[in-house]
Amino acid sequence: MSAYPKRLLSIQDLKVNQAQEILELAKTYKASSANAIPNARFASKVVALAFLESSTRTRVSFEIACHRIGAKPIHFSGGSESSIAKGESAHETIETVLAMRPDALVTRYGGDSQTERVLKNANLPIVNGGDGRNEHPTQALLDAFTINERLGSIEGQKVLFVGDVEHSRVARSNLHLLTMLGAKVASCSPNDFKPTAQEWKSCEHFENLRDGLKWASVCVGLRIQKERHEKNSRLNLEEYIKLYRIDHKKLLDLSSKGLIMHPGPFVPGEDLTDDVLSDPRCAIHEQVTNGVFIRMAVLTHILEAR
Ligand code: NCD
Repeated sequence: MSAYPKRLLSIQDLKVNQAQEILELAKTYKASSANAIPNARFASKVVALAFLESSTRTRVSFEIACHRIGAKPIHFSGGSESSIAKGESAHETIETVLAMRPDALVTRYGGDSQTERVLKNANLPIVNGGDGRNEHPTQALLDAFTINERLGSIEGQKVLFVGDVEHSRVARSNLHLLTMLGAKVASCSPNDFKPTAQEWKSCEHFENLRDGLKWASVCVGLRIQKERHEKNSRLNLEEYIKLYRIDHKKLLDLSSKGLIMHPGPFVPGEDLTDDVLSDPRCAIHEQVTNGVFIRMAVLTHILEAR
């Protein structure tokens, strides 16, 4: 095992061989039955899951992953049962959880700079479970795993992100990981959702979904991240649905050997129609399954890092 960073705050914390090791370990975990995974060495480890923003997949999947490797998850939300409801700040809440000295911390928060500073200064293993519109590294790893499993390789794939790419942490982490592993990444959206950050400048952009789908071997739908839009955003939802919602008709333009993915949650009728789930090219539920194995692998590396 190569020296693994003690924290996974950004997918860019990983070198290519470290990312590959996680994908390999996740594959080994997926191939073993749950009972066959040696876990005694983590029996005393407590992993705090501080999810201050809403989450189903990521939180539950980290929780199951902890159990599968034999560590003990403690889940903590920013909801009505927490001190955030009494007015405490996110960064003070995280400091408080850190002061209890769990063996590792998984966080989801709004990406504010004060909490970011607290996490950067903390001296224990930390995994980012999504921070504002910035990064979502374990989602990128599970997406790469799913592409490799379904299509046999990541190298050479053409991965098209469709929808609100500008506000998507999933697309950003994927851009870095998939490019590092030899895939090409492109975006497809109306102009308001076209990614503006420098890192996307060398990627192709399609305004027309048909052209994008003809180019792609993998199509990744994205939810419209309304919670991150400016108050005065003038999204024309009807027009957006007409041009960009992924449905079986539009998918006629994707190769029969292509792959359809979405990080979830998807809003039925808005970013995706329900019938897409029964398309044999669709791997949306496999992504969720694979998320557990990826998080088992990440936690294993993180808990063993020195
Ligand atoms: C995404 C997230 O929270 O970043 N979902 C996930 O973790 N699987 C995407 C989203 O919220 O749209």
